[in-house]
Amino acid sequence: MNKSELQQHDREHLLHPFTDFSDLGKQGTRVITNADGAYISDIDGHRMLDGMSGLWCCNLGYSRNEIADAVYEQLRTLPFYNSFFQCTTVPSIQLADALAEVTPAHMNNVFFTGSGSEANDTNLRLIRRYWDLKEQPEKRIVISRKNGYHGSTIAGASLGGMSGMHKQFQALDYIEHIQQPYWFGEGGDMSPEEFGIHAARCLDEKIQELGPEKVAAFIAEPIQGAGGVIIPPETYWPEVKKVLDQYDILLVMDEVIFGFGRTGEWFGADYYGMKPDLMTFAKAVTNGYFPLGGTMVGDRVAEVIKSRGGEFTHGYTYSAHPAACMAGLATINILRNENIIENVRDVTGPYLAKRWAELAEHPIVGEARSLGMVGALELVKDKGSRARFDDDCTAGGVCRDMSIKNGLVMRATGDTMIIAPPLIITTEQVDELVEKARRALDDTAKAMA
Ligand SMILES: Cc1ncc(COP(=O)(O)O)c(C=O)c1O
Repeated sequence: MNKSELQQHDREHLLHPFTDFSDLGKQGTRVITNADGAYISDIDGHRMLDGMSGLWCCNLGYSRNEIADAVYEQLRTLPFYNSFFQCTTVPSIQLADALAEVTPAHMNNVFFTGSGSEANDTNLRLIRRYWDLKEQPEKRIVISRKNGYHGSTIAGASLGGMSGMHKQFQALDYIEHIQQPYWFGEGGDMSPEEFGIHAARCLDEKIQELGPEKVAAFIAEPIQGAGGVIIPPETYWPEVKKVLDQYDILLVMDEVIFGFGRTGEWFGADYYGMKPDLMTFAKAVTNGYFPLGGTMVGDRVAEVIKSRGGEFTHGYTYSAHPAACMAGLATINILRNENIIENVRDVTGPYLAKRWAELAEHPIVGEARSLGMVGALELVKDKGSRARFDDDCTAGGVCRDMSIKNGLVMRATGDTMIIAPPLIITTEQVDELVEKARRALDDTAKAMA
């Protein structure tokens, strides 16, 4: 099939995630055909620096045959066996061991799933099981944040605070949302430090309002990814820690985006010095080569659910799929053996921070922020008042298209442009990324004038 035939068949038979189908029908899809290193190419041969690591998952880029080989060999040896009914497989044991080693010291158990959304469903099941076994069944409510993203199943979308999603389904009624720590958008006249404290105190207020005896858990991404790379002010997580320490409430950190090195530490929890009870992961655990997710279970929860007896009536056919686990093991081996995360922390992360900050000088950029291997640009019409171009966030879509035209994949979340390049990006490629982003901004400024 040629390109237009492919697009025609795509239109007729494929329902894409998070897509306006009539819009897609008009524009046609971009057909991505191959990838190498930090680059992807489309069917026209247009090669782009992938500033989004696929969908925040190909942290090692696209050319790691070790991962493909590990999957292939496993598929030929034992392509599938489940971990129900007292069975197990060697890769699943090995990956559970490796995860216990690379995650925070108090996390020594894992429940495998097929995706991040499923892992957050698992978290809700674990939270309830834990409090039931502790004979505190009244602890039912889970607090989450507006504009957080925790997946697209009913549980994931209920936990998430995306208003557009909430309009299209009926959310679980035991989840409550509080303010996000988005200083640029919601900080008003407060300094970032003041606003960080304020946003954390919202958690305290909500707990008091609901009654601490009814609150089971608080869930949050260390940094909101899909919501627009919202890096909380430095005061936020320490204050959240203080609040949580006062009450007997579980902390779930959703590390689906930030796990496996994106901050320059193994996990966002390490970066912020937090001690979560549950930690969701997916995506980069297999470098995106094979679907796998899971939740790490901290010792305080694991001890209760393992020692108090009775069946935990939960699991998925593909929990601990052996080929997925081999992809995970190969990925962790590369991260460890090649000091990829240390390099982000010491070399490429600081370099990206320096170069990305230069974009703040651009006339349509209200803020340029970054941390480790993520960054965001706030597009504004007026820097002083932070006024956007329009209510429909047209500038973001224009800038994304201009960026692709200039050979860089950037994503638009409203009028916030975001990047999450592969961790293997070199300093020369960071220069390329920043120059292409600058050209996209120039083109956007002209188009929006
Ligand atoms: C923080 C976070 N949690 C959960 C998910 C859902 O993961 P999945 O798409 O694998 O279900 C995502 C996906 O982007 C995410 O960013």
